[in-house]
Amino acid sequence: MKNSLTVTDNRTGKSYELAIQNGAIRAGDLRQIKVAEDDFGLMSYDPAFMNTASCTSRITFIDGDKGILRYRGYPIEELAEKSTYLETAYLLLYGELPTKAELEDWVYNVTIHTIIHENIKKFIDGFHYDAHPMGMLVSTVAALSTYYRDAKSIFDGESRRRQTYRLIGKMPTLAAFVYRHTRGMPYAYPDNDLSYTGNFLNMLFKMTEVKYQPDPILERALDVLFILHADHEQNCSTNAMRSVGSSHVDPYSAVAAAAAALYGPLHGGANEEVLRMLTEIGTKDRVPEFIKRVKGGEGLLMGFGHRVYKNYDPRAKIIKRVADQVFEVTGRNPLLDIALELERIALEDDYFIKRKLYPNVDFYSGIIYQAMGFPVDVFPVLFAIPRTSGWMAQWEEMLLDSEQKIARPRQVYLGSPQRSYVGIDQRKAR
Ligand code: CMC
Repeated sequence: MKNSLTVTDNRTGKSYELAIQNGAIRAGDLRQIKVAEDDFGLMSYDPAFMNTASCTSRITFIDGDKGILRYRGYPIEELAEKSTYLETAYLLLYGELPTKAELEDWVYNVTIHTIIHENIKKFIDGFHYDAHPMGMLVSTVAALSTYYRDAKSIFDGESRRRQTYRLIGKMPTLAAFVYRHTRGMPYAYPDNDLSYTGNFLNMLFKMTEVKYQPDPILERALDVLFILHADHEQNCSTNAMRSVGSSHVDPYSAVAAAAAALYGPLHGGANEEVLRMLTEIGTKDRVPEFIKRVKGGEGLLMGFGHRVYKNYDPRAKIIKRVADQVFEVTGRNPLLDIALELERIALEDDYFIKRKLYPNVDFYSGIIYQAMGFPVDVFPVLFAIPRTSGWMAQWEEMLLDSEQKIARPRQVYLGSPQRSYVGIDQRKAR
């Protein structure tokens, strides 16, 4: 078997042999295919990157047909059962599970970077009381770049390591402060005696008690949810992180761009939309009517479908189990029954079967977050915190990849050919 592709250009009758490597041809190899010497050469046209690999990566593996997700080779199910979020973040960033000493050092360094500059509170204070938490998070992460000028040294490994500690350490603090601002509550400072998620719960929900004690079941449930959300290879926000980072901007600005991409309702904002959808449906008996409307083209079944998974999202399976544990503590979220009914009917329906639409990670996560006391508009923020480790791992991989350059796609121009400027008095009404 020869690892190549022979193509014949029917415009010229010429044949070309293109190398196949790792199941892909190089789009650049198409450029030799020309009809004339001054021809630009053939391009591939692929809106939304439906079939284009933009990088090689060794971080996350997904088999969408089989419903498989692995970080650095480790199945997501095993990590969700046995690991912690910070250990998983280390794995994503550095490629291997840490030794005991490495983990202690990593946890220590992330933990001592949880505090934020007092001035950042003033930025947050400046937002309107009903500003969307994700908008505030995107802006305050971007603002961090103005504090850490050393972050511009992106090819200095030590600097990258420092910014990674800072970003992973500070994201929960920013998120919690943003939440408390919307509630008009005084900011609660990090408690470095607590775990990553325990401290996050402390900064969110601490009232007047001297020491906040997180519920261990909720603390672990949030940790598992963070593991599940830590990376997902080349999705919209990761692509934004790599693309913006490829201009060699500092990582705070690139993370702000990635978080902005995550904010959209088709990506990390979907968990928020699922809750709004379930609330709007209201009761189980109204599910068939809702499904009928979706099939008729009136909106989407939020939390269903995925660009890569054409099978059950493995994260959604784990989340369903976490939900049971959380409800033991918080009481059952009544929206769960509507979600289960939606899933049952959708999975039996031809429309969804034919299109291979299954529940994704966002379908059940919001129900858990709501039961834990998070307001709906904080949900995308809960996605951005753990995804920061994935973004940073992908950013570093991109920077150190000698094949990568500034991301700059081509276009197929279909606009007007050259024409002469027309003075305003001569222009005709359209
Ligand atoms: N409800 C109803 N129909 C759907 C849905 C849905 N949720 N998702 C896709 N379809 C239909 C779509 O209309 C299209 O039908 P047709 O072939 O008749 O035109 C077909 O299924 C293929 O969909 P697509 O839009 O071409 O698929 P895509 O790969 O471009 O989009 C998606 C993937 C996730 C954006 C999309 O499924 C969607 O909008 N889902 C709802 C939003 C959501 O839950 N997003 C979270 C994604 S998982 C977390 C994350 O990584 O962010």
